[in-house]
Amino acid sequence: KRKPNDDNGDDKNPPNTPSATLDYPSLSRVTSKSVPFQQPTQLLSFSYDENHEMEFTDSALRYYVEPPLNASLKYGYNHWKRKADTRGRLDSLLHAVSRVKKQGGGPVGEIGLVTWRGIITKILTAPYEEREGWDMNVMYVKGTLYLEEHLSDERLHEKNNMDEKHRQQTYYGYAFESYCTSDKPVRGQTDACHPIGWGGDVDTNVQWCSVVRTKLGDTRMVLGGEVDCVRGKYTGQTDTFVELKTSLTIRGPPDAARFEKKLLKFYFQSFLLGVPEIVVGFRTPSGQLTTTQTFKTIQLPRLVRGKPGAWDPQLCLEWGHSFLSFLKGELGNWKAHDETVPVWRVRFVPRKGVSVEILDQAGVEDVVGGEDRVGFLPKWFWDELEE
Ligand code: A3P
Ligand code: MG
Ligand code: MG
Repeated sequence: KRKPNDDNGDDKNPPNTPSATLDYPSLSRVTSKSVPFQQPTQLLSFSYDENHEMEFTDSALRYYVEPPLNASLKYGYNHWKRKADTRGRLDSLLHAVSRVKKQGGGPVGEIGLVTWRGIITKILTAPYEEREGWDMNVMYVKGTLYLEEHLSDERLHEKNNMDEKHRQQTYYGYAFESYCTSDKPVRGQTDACHPIGWGGDVDTNVQWCSVVRTKLGDTRMVLGGEVDCVRGKYTGQTDTFVELKTSLTIRGPPDAARFEKKLLKFYFQSFLLGVPEIVVGFRTPSGQLTTTQTFKTIQLPRLVRGKPGAWDPQLCLEWGHSFLSFLKGELGNWKAHDETVPVWRVRFVPRKGVSVEILDQAGVEDVVGGEDRVGFLPKWFWDELEE
C-alpha cells in the first residue's frame, strides 16, 4: 500500500521521501499456503574474546554440563563483567561473510539477506507481539538486503542503565549459562574446586557464534547468532547445539499460559540457527534454580497447539515471507537519481503493522555517526562488493 504523498521525483530530499506500509497480519486468518524454511547449514563459527574482539576460532565454544539443582543464580553478580550495549552493527557478521566468500565456501553472491538471527526472530514473531515495537535500518545492495536494529540514543541509554531489579534478572540468565557450561565436555578440575560448580566469573563479552545459511521461501539468507553450548561434541554443524533459557517456575494455569507464549521466541531463536535442543532452567523469583527441562525445538509448535498461549509458526513464516517480499518490492523499485544506495528505516508498531521510508541525510548521519561507512555498511565491506 503506498501513501498518496509517494513521489519518486528528482528533488533532493526532503520532500523526496517515499514510504509505504504493510498491514498487520490477522491472527484469525486461516493459513492456506505453507512457506518452506530450509534446514540451516553452518558456514563458519567465530568467537568474541574478553575484550569482545572477534576471532575466527572456537575459543569461546562451551559444552553442556548438568547444573547443580537449588543453585543460586545470584552467585557472582558483583563480579559480572558486563558487555556494554552498543548499536547492533553487522560488522563481525560481514567479516564472516567476506571470509566465506574468499574461501570459496558457497555462492554467497546469491544471498538475498544478511543479518543477525535476533533480527529475523523479531520479524517472524511480530504477529504475536503486543507490546514492543522495533526500528530497523535496511540497505539493499546488488540484490542483497542488509538489516540492522536501530536503537535511538534514548533506547541505548535505557539498555545501559537498566534498574537494579531488571539487571539482577538479566544476570540470572547468564549465571544459569555459566552453571550449565564448561570449556570441556565434562566439568573440569578447576570448576570442581568450586563447591557449587563454577567460579562465579560471568563475562558477557565472551561469546561463541555460528553463521549459517538457510532459505525462507525464495530468499536465501546468511544469519549469525550466539550459541550457548554444544552437547557431547562439536561436529562442525548445528546438530549438537544447545540453547539455554531461564524462566519462572510454573505454579498454575496463568503461569503455564505465559510460558507457552514465551516459547514462541525460544522456538524461532533456536529454529533459525538449526539449534535442536533448548534447556530451560526454572527458577524462583529470587533466583533459586528449581528444575531443568529439555525441549526439542521442532516439537514446540505441537506442544503449544490448542493451549491458552498457543501460536502457529506457519503464520509467522508466512508473515515473514510477505514482509521480505514487501521490502524487496519497495526497495527494489526505488531508483535514485544518482548512484547512491539509500538507507531505509523500517518501523514495526504492534497491532498496526510495518512502515518503511527512506532516511534523509540527517537520519543517515544519526545512524552512521562519524564512522567510515557507506550507509551503515563498513567501507571495507562496501569496497569488496564493488570489486
Ligand atoms: P534468559 O533468556 O535465560 O533470561 P540468550 O538466552 O539469548 O542466550 O541470552 C542470555 C541471557 O541474556 C538471557 O537469559 C537474558 O538474561 C539476557 N537477555 C537476552 N536478551 C535480552 C533482552 N532482549 N533483554 C534483556 N535481557 C536479555
Ligand atoms: Mg545466549
Ligand atoms: Mg540462552
